[in-house]
This record gives sequence, C-alpha cells and structure tokens, in this order.
Amino acid sequence: MQNANLKMQNDNVKFKMNIMKVLVIYYSRTKTTKKVAEALAEKLGADLEEVIDKKDRSGALGWLSAGRDATRRYLTDLEPAKKAAGDYDLVMIGTPIWSWNLSTPIRTYLSENKEVLNKIKTALFCTMGGSGHERAGREMGGIIGREPAATLGLLTKEVVQDKFAEKLEEFINKINQTIK
Ligand SMILES: Cc1cc2nc3c(=O)[nH]c(=O)nc-3n(C[C@H](O)[C@H](O)[C@H](O)COP(=O)(O)O)c2cc1C
Repeated sequence: MQNANLKMQNDNVKFKMNIMKVLVIYYSRTKTTKKVAEALAEKLGADLEEVIDKKDRSGALGWLSAGRDATRRYLTDLEPAKKAAGDYDLVMIGTPIWSWNLSTPIRTYLSENKEVLNKIKTALFCTMGGSGHERAGREMGGIIGREPAATLGLLTKEVVQDKFAEKLEEFINKINQTIK
C-alpha cells in the first residue's frame, strides 16, 4: 500500500512538472553542482544552462578569489545567458556554497535577473562540503524579493558517490506541493 501511494505521488509529480516549462540553471567550478543539475534536467525533461563566469576560478588562485569574492558579496562578469528565465514557469538554480554564501556567479545571475525571477516560481539547490544552503536560500529570497519554493543542500560526497536520488525526489515533491 505504501508503495502504491509512493507511485501515485511520483506519477503526480511527473504530471505537474510535465505541464510546466522548467529551466535548470547552474554554476559549477569543479563539476559537482553540474552533476546534480544534469540529473534534475534529465528527470524533469527541463532545459539546462550553465552560468559562465568570465573570471578564471581554476586552481589555487581561483579558489582564493572565489572565497574572497563570496565573503565580500562581490559580483562578477558573466557570459550572456542563452535562455531567458522569463520564458519559464519554474527556474531551478544550482550553486556551490562558497564561504557559507552563494557563489559569486550565482549571486550575479540572481541580481541581474531579479525582476524576472521575482515573478516566477524558483527553487535553489546547493552542493557543499558541510553547510550553508539554508543561509544561501534566505539570501536568494532577499536578492530576488521572493522566497524559493524549496531549497536543497547536498554534500559533495553524496553527489560524488551517487547517493542523492532520494533527496532529489523529496526536493521535487516539495516544489510540486506549491504548484496549484
Ligand atoms: C572558495 C570556496 C569556499 C567554500 N566554502 C564552503 C563553505 O563555506 N561550506 C561548505 O560546506 N563548503 C564550502 N566549499 C566547498 C564547495 O561548496 C563544494 O566542494 C561544492 O560541492 C563544489 O561544487 P562545484 O564542484 O559545483 O564547484 C567551498 C569551496 C570553495 C571553492
């Protein structure tokens, strides 16, 4: 009976998400968040876009600049986005946590698109070594002037070891509950 309920719940999730146009947009320095974004987009049949930072964040120097820029809440220069957030019903935004903050490229994306994102449903997914996603979710709400429908935090090791399917399903269910 429990399995039947779960199946009905999952079918319902797919149904609601299928009638929505969904964009998964993410920044990833070392491909952890990218892996989650790709899994989400495939599961939901969503469009996928990577946010590209013009600043080189690779290596030790890139790591240092990432930590400093995130702590100081700096913005950066991004390559122009190919997809317009305003064309979608739901925008799911993925970021690594940098110094208990949103990553600088995602802070920039949110700031540059806040008017549009304020009018549509959004959700935030984060990958992190330990913690910071709840604060990042609150910050995102402050930047765009609207709370994300759900915030997911995944540990880097859960993603690397492919142990995040259940949390992803819960995340989707939570967003689904907010769809009328
Ligand atoms: C500059 C910098 C600062 C970080 N700060 C935090 C932090 O405050 N808390 C945390 O849990 N993880 C922190 N991390 C770890 C990353 O959030 C984690 O490795 C993430 O999964 C990387 O995602 P990516 O591979 O998509 O870039 C930090 C990583 C970097 C590069």
